[in-house]
Parts: sequence; C-alpha cells; structure tokens
Amino acid sequence: MSWNGLLKEYRDYLPINDETPDLSLHEGNTPLIKCNNLSAEWGIDLYVKYEGLNPTGSFKDRGMVMAVAKAIEEGSDAIICASTGNTSAAAAAYAARANIRCIVVIPEGKIAMGKLAQAVMYGAEIISIEGNFDNALQIVRNISENAPITLVNSVNPYRIEGQKTAAFEIVDVLGAAPDILALPVGNAGNITAYWKGFKEYNEKKQTGLPEMRGFEAEGAAAIVHNRVFEEPETIATAIRIGNPASWKFAVEAAQESNGKIDEVSDAEILEAYHLLASKEGIFAEPASCASIAGIRKQLASGEIKRGSKIVAVLTGNGLKDPNVAVETSSIKAELLPMDEKIIIEHLQGAVKI
Ligand code: F0G
Repeated sequence: MSWNGLLKEYRDYLPINDETPDLSLHEGNTPLIKCNNLSAEWGIDLYVKYEGLNPTGSFKDRGMVMAVAKAIEEGSDAIICASTGNTSAAAAAYAARANIRCIVVIPEGKIAMGKLAQAVMYGAEIISIEGNFDNALQIVRNISENAPITLVNSVNPYRIEGQKTAAFEIVDVLGAAPDILALPVGNAGNITAYWKGFKEYNEKKQTGLPEMRGFEAEGAAAIVHNRVFEEPETIATAIRIGNPASWKFAVEAAQESNGKIDEVSDAEILEAYHLLASKEGIFAEPASCASIAGIRKQLASGEIKRGSKIVAVLTGNGLKDPNVAVETSSIKAELLPMDEKIIIEHLQGAVKI
C-alpha cells in the first residue's frame, strides 16, 4: 500500500476540510528502528524514530505541510519564519511546491551547511541577521502581525497539529505508547506536539502515555534553569535557543507525564552522535542526539530504569551538518599512492587479505 502523506493519512485527526488543499511531499511514515547494540549494552529496549528520513530531512515537514496548506486555504500567498535551519528548509520546500513566497530569517553563521543549501535550492528569500534565533523570531512575529504574511514557526497551531502525527506512528508500530519518549528541546514545539498526539491517541484508543523526557543543550538550557539565556551557545545549532516560545507547554508535558526537562553538554551530545552512527549505522544531526545523550545520562543517574522501553526521536538527518561530522571524527582518510601493492601492505596491518 502506498503512503499518501500526512494530510491524507491522518485526515480524521487533523483540522482538514473540503477547502484544505491537497499538499504533500509524502512526509511522515518514518521508520522506528530498534537499536540492537545500544539496547544490549545499556539494558534497555531502545528504539529511534528516524525523522531524518522525511522529505527535507527533518521532523519539520510534518508541521509545515499542515501550516502551509492552511495558509493557502486562508488565502495567504506568502509565509515567513525564523529558523536555526530545518524550519527554513521545510518552509521553503512546501512553499515552492505550493507556488507561494517564502521568507526565512536566520542567525548569521549559525546554520548548518546542508540546511542553508536547501533554503537556497528551494528558492527562499533569505535574510541573515547578526543575532540569534530568539531575535529572529521576535522580528518575524512582528512582521507577520503587521503584514499579510503567514507566520509558520511552531507558535502557529497548525504546526503542532501536523507534528503530533509522529506520536501516532510510534504507537501504531509498538501497539502502545513506550515507557519513555526522549527528544531534544529547542523552541519546545515538538515536545508540545508529541504530548498532544499521545494524549489524543490515548483518549481514542487507550494506548497509554509515555514519560516525556526532553533535553536542552547545556549552553541553551532556559527551561532547566528557569531563566532566559540571552546568548545561547551549543554545537547543536538546531537547538541554540535561549527563550523557547512553547516553554510553558514543555513544562506541562514533563509535569503531566511524570517526566523531566533536563540538559546535556556538548561533549555528551557529540559522544552520543558518534556512538549512534558507529554502533547502529544511524546518522542523525547533533541536536537530535541530545535525546540519546539524555537517555545515557539518566540511566547513569538512575532516573531511567533498566528494562524500560524507550523511543528517542532523531529529529534531523546527519547529512544536514556534514561539517560537524568531519571536524569531530577521529577517522580521517588515509592518503596513499595509487599503487595496489602499497594499499595491500597498508591493509595487512589491520586485516588479512
Ligand atoms: N532537533 C532539530 C534537528 C531541530 O531542527 C529542532 C528545532 C529541534 C530539535 C527542536 O525542536 O524547537 O520544536 O523544540 N529547530 C527549529 C528550526 C528551531 O528553526 O529549525 P523544537
């Protein structure tokens, strides 16, 4: 059976009517992959929801297809967003497909190369500012209030509606909610969306609820420390956010689910990033790996019990940020002459051939 994208597949759960345009890049239906090696090593049942396999390589496609469809339904012909990169890629792609204008405001020098390449290729109008995501969000909020341009950041409720579908997919594969859902937290839209999705599915199908465990980067951990970070900093540029718009909802999700918003350091994020790729063959961008780093941290502290069934959300594809991969890897290409004998001699040190 072919997959027709979120608006068709989840029509009954989404704010869709006969006027809603039929927009899709076949987003959603991403794999839930069991991590056999890390599960055995850590004594848990670990799965990853690999959102990097969405059409623009991140979970943002789920929310964007809904937000752009509703913008068009309401007669808008232009969208705007602030972004650390993935939102701008998704917005630009769906705007291109829907043939409307797309304006993105990004923090200068703090966008991963793959994401910038996407915005350029999809034809967005790109404004780069000497400021961070929080500054950019304030600017686009003001612009959208005063001009006929639809704001498509996750403060747009249709974004949350689209993104909640990932929770449905997890429950459908596992047959029930996992014990724990771990995910990175930036602007806190996604944790809000997942919690809404789990609750809606549970009300309809009695599928249970997970503990929501969200992880901020230590240098941008506003919710954990209950204060705005004026100058957020982290290698995980996707979550380099110091004043999350959905702060209140993230706190609610953690409290209602008996979970927690916690923080992980850049060193912990990078370790998890390399571990996941080298032990499981799964390449996710650094911010995504805050979820894996967080699980590891809370296993060590005893906050997560051995034997738990855990889903970690890998929000974006590793190919989005090739620079961090190459710069932080201990593996380098070996430069040898184009001579078979020398290559074989070199390899004989490591393998028998
Ligand atoms: N992971 C990735 C890869 C992201 O791009 C983001 C957010 C998050 C996690 C955090 O999700 O904001 O819903 O808590 N990226 C936004 C952007 C801010 O502009 O692409 P959140």
